[in-house]
Amino acid sequence: MENAATATFAFTTENEARFQELLPKYPTKQAVVIPALWLAHDQNGYLTPEAMDYVAQRLEQSPVSVYAVVEFYTMFHTSPPGKHHIQLCRTITCDMLGCDNLAGLIHDEIGIGPGEQTPDGLFSFEMVECLGSCGTGPMMRMDNRYFENLTRDKLQRVLRACKEGRDSAEEDRD
Ligand code: FES
Repeated sequence: MENAATATFAFTTENEARFQELLPKYPTKQAVVIPALWLAHDQNGYLTPEAMDYVAQRLEQSPVSVYAVVEFYTMFHTSPPGKHHIQLCRTITCDMLGCDNLAGLIHDEIGIGPGEQTPDGLFSFEMVECLGSCGTGPMMRMDNRYFENLTRDKLQRVLRACKEGRDSAEEDRD
């Protein structure tokens, strides 16, 4: 029987099928936590406490252990992100290549700093740890895409494309 904490979230039929496919692929239920969280995240665009509790219950884990995973990984949002969620890498390579300068440009272009969202919900912005693309830094992730070898000019073009409702990928060129 479901309790109150799980009553407001459940996998869709499609995600339930994906969840069932995941289970035999991993050695333990604990190992399924991240992919199951990702399913829940993908379903709503972010993770609510109810969704985290639901995943914990389905995998027989403590809620606090699931919350800790969500807290650790920057790919998980716990509130609705902007339409274009900017994740600018701040780890050493990207730092040495000028990510602070790019953060300043983001502030100048869209008026927000790390951890903030524009009032119209068009953009949200966070600084994140290494995204594994150090050889092509400075870089950011946005719209499920990596934008690499960022310069001020390229980043400005990308942001302006978003503001104008165009595909940001069009400006992903040097
Ligand atoms: S340091 Fe930025 S991607 Fe690795």
